[in-house]
Amino acid sequence: MYREMHMGYGYNTPIPYDPAVLGLIQEAMKDERHDRVKYGKMLEMTDDKKVQEQIRFAYEDEGKHYTMFQKIYAQLTGQRIEIPVPRAEDYGTLQNAIETSIDGELEAVELYRRIKAMLPTRQMQDDLYEIITDEQEHATRFVYLYAMEK
Ligand SMILES: [Fe+2]
Ligand SMILES: [Fe+2]
Repeated sequence: MYREMHMGYGYNTPIPYDPAVLGLIQEAMKDERHDRVKYGKMLEMTDDKKVQEQIRFAYEDEGKHYTMFQKIYAQLTGQRIEIPVPRAEDYGTLQNAIETSIDGELEAVELYRRIKAMLPTRQMQDDLYEIITDEQEHATRFVYLYAMEK
């Protein structure tokens, strides 16, 4: 059984792909925006330089990831999309924000594995591999912070 395939742009030869991946990429861009806002808020919740240093790694990476997903979306569709920056929620304590961040990072890894498997070119898959590795690193940093803050 084959799903309807779309053709990607930005290549000499159009490459077929499953259009269902587009919705997942939009979801990913939304999550990246959300996480960056969340980590920005977490940076303001502490004066501890060592804690801030760990959070800042993730904060900067999420900005990079958003742009990478935006690029892949444009390569597939020929369209450059933007997701509006969400408002920061109230995360209560820093420890609570760290705990929910561990879950968020691990869920991102699951979603991005699905996206990676649906992408039509080796370059796009390599981009996703880089992002997945970053999210795994973020999860590890948050687990470290969680243990440190206890
Ligand atoms: Fe990310
Ligand atoms: Fe992350």
